[in-house]
Amino acid sequence: MSEGPGTTPVPDPTAMQDDHSGAEAATPADGAGVTEQGVDDRSASRTGATQSRSAPGPERAAPPPSPEHVVTGLGSAPAAAQAGSAPADSGVDGSTKHDRRDRTGTAVRASSRSGRGASSPRGTTAVWNRLTRKADLRAKAGLTRTARVRAAAIDLAGNDYLGLSRHPAVLDAAAAALAEHGLGAGGSRLVRGTTDLHEDFEAAFARHTGTETAVLYSSGYLANLGAVAALAGPVLLDAHAHASLHDAARLAGGRSETFAHNDLDDLERQLQALRPSIVAVESVYSVLGDAAPLRELHALTSAHGALLLVDEAHAIGTVGPHGSGGVAAAGLAGDPGVIVTATLSKALGAAGGIVAGPAALRRHLHDTGRTFVYDTAPPPAVIAGAGAALALARGADGARGELARRAALAASALGAPVPAAGVLSPAAGDARAAAAWAERCAAKGVAVGCFRPPSTPDHRSRLRVTVNTGVPEADFTKALAVIEATRPDPNSR
Ligand SMILES: Cc1ncc(COP(=O)(O)O)c(C=O)c1O
Repeated sequence: MSEGPGTTPVPDPTAMQDDHSGAEAATPADGAGVTEQGVDDRSASRTGATQSRSAPGPERAAPPPSPEHVVTGLGSAPAAAQAGSAPADSGVDGSTKHDRRDRTGTAVRASSRSGRGASSPRGTTAVWNRLTRKADLRAKAGLTRTARVRAAAIDLAGNDYLGLSRHPAVLDAAAAALAEHGLGAGGSRLVRGTTDLHEDFEAAFARHTGTETAVLYSSGYLANLGAVAALAGPVLLDAHAHASLHDAARLAGGRSETFAHNDLDDLERQLQALRPSIVAVESVYSVLGDAAPLRELHALTSAHGALLLVDEAHAIGTVGPHGSGGVAAAGLAGDPGVIVTATLSKALGAAGGIVAGPAALRRHLHDTGRTFVYDTAPPPAVIAGAGAALALARGADGARGELARRAALAASALGAPVPAAGVLSPAAGDARAAAAWAERCAAKGVAVGCFRPPSTPDHRSRLRVTVNTGVPEADFTKALAVIEATRPDPNSR
């Protein structure tokens, strides 16, 4: 299963699309933290691990990955040991904390300078053996992720909230730009040059959200990484914030901590303790679908001299006047203490990411933001389509009303809280039960997401249901009935 939001306009029966909450950021989905018994909560609770690496300057070319990062990615012995993996796992490559690691993160015996180790067949094989064992452990715990081929199904898995990804005006705009500019952007905007389409979209998005300026990225993930890392300093994150924000805090290289989800008292305590430069939240949370108390968050962060970064991935197009998002709805549009980030892959049905805020932010990101400077620009055709979608979304009050109506209907049918926009996540017992539930839905022609630890912030396995107003009413009602009818037997949980 590939990962949840931002996916498929066409139904994805993958049933097991997992989102990326912060829990994932703290608990690599590589088997570290998974034991024969299941998921080890010790790893899941490391979300606020303090960081102390210093970030390299933006002018310099990207450095090789730091050993710590690579090691974690490989589920190395130290990372696995911290995360509570089976002890047998922790010594597979025989490395100790005194061993050096090469650029691939593979242990090189401190005592051996003979060139053996990482690149020797034996060392390499040990890495793959270790990863295979971890994959087997994940499979036992019901945590395998499989990206299935899409099949015809009713789509309650994708994030095309307003059904715009296939709107004729969106496709026409994209087709015209495709013919004019070709498939890809050909390079970063600094190197290859920008297009009117990029500039116009940024201006339109800034107007839409009431911000001064905006900067496009090739994904929402990279927008978050770029914004947080460029504004380096201690970062405080809501515990339910998206994995990209947690990863961004790591990339920033300073200290980062989490505060309890939507808990203003905990936020205030941590503001005093950490004195962060940024507090990062989502306006509508991507797994549980609830809203952040943005006015109160803003009052607290500004009182402590911190910027409030609000990821509006699930709110642009769905919430606020003309779909301008949660920040605008909270009366904070254009506030110099607020940075808005978003993906174009949800209600706008496209791909790409954006950061919006004061003009000084745009200048800073252009000059120093690594994921702007060192990344190829989003394809002009996609941005042209996104521009058409943004114009349509502004006028889509009717669809937003329908989204709210369907979300309330789904909440009552599935016994989930009424969401702030279009995301619902009914709890599903354990990971295997959730996966099996999603499979039963897929077998009956309904595509839903399936989020399991470490992708759920509360470590509970859930179905992830997203409301798409492009789905015909009769299909939507049928899909809800299928989800309810295939629900796991509560006695078997
Ligand atoms: C809250 C949130 N932020 C960021 C992202 C990343 O956006 P993208 O898929 O464009 O990288 C997503 C979704 O995938 C998301 O749900």
